[in-house]
Amino acid sequence: MTQGFRRKGKSIIGVILGIFILGIVSEVLAGPPMGHGRRHHLRHHRGHHGQGFAGDGICPQVRATVQAPDEIRDQPNPLEPSREVLYGGETLFQVDVQPVACKICHGVNGNGLGIMAQGLNPPPRNFNCKETMQEVSDGQLFWIIRNGSPGTGMPAFKNLDDKQIWKIVHYLRQFSKPGRK
Ligand code: HEC
Repeated sequence: MTQGFRRKGKSIIGVILGIFILGIVSEVLAGPPMGHGRRHHLRHHRGHHGQGFAGDGICPQVRATVQAPDEIRDQPNPLEPSREVLYGGETLFQVDVQPVACKICHGVNGNGLGIMAQGLNPPPRNFNCKETMQEVSDGQLFWIIRNGSPGTGMPAFKNLDDKQIWKIVHYLRQFSKPGRK
């Protein structure tokens, strides 16, 4: 009797320990806790999780955005798209930019379907849409990020320095690279 009780007690502890270990292992497999963006990418996560909607978004997108002045529009990205630069861009886009991270409108997956996208007309740019994105130069992206797109939901981000914006521009380009998904 006592023997049987003991064995049962042990197996319950075993089960609890097992669940605990499983938890740790899945945390490790999920990748480093480096902010939402990173984890979402590592997991190829396309669900919504209160961060907007999955899917490819609108494409092609009607685009009536104001043109940047010629000399800015034609300016190439001065940074190399190194891993550090891309990661810097990702962190800014997904988490760090104030007052609201870009993902809130443009979506974790860059599809333009972030949680604040609903009701915005014109809708946020879908960075996955190659057809639309290939018409837009790096300098144009830079200029709109700094100055916003007047009369639309796209705010100006005056508190970002040049380097931060160019990092984001490199990161935005990744969304429409083939084979990213
Ligand atoms: C409150 C919602 C909102 C937030 C936050 C937001 N955007 Fe936008 N964004 C928009 C909308 C709406 C448009 C479409 C504007 C248009 O059609 O002219 C847009 C357009 C753009 C474009 C397209 C420019 C072009 O010439 O086609 C870029 C680039 C862009 N956003 C980058 C960003 C980045 C980077 C951030 C974060 C630093 C950001 N946006 C944050 C709503 C937002």
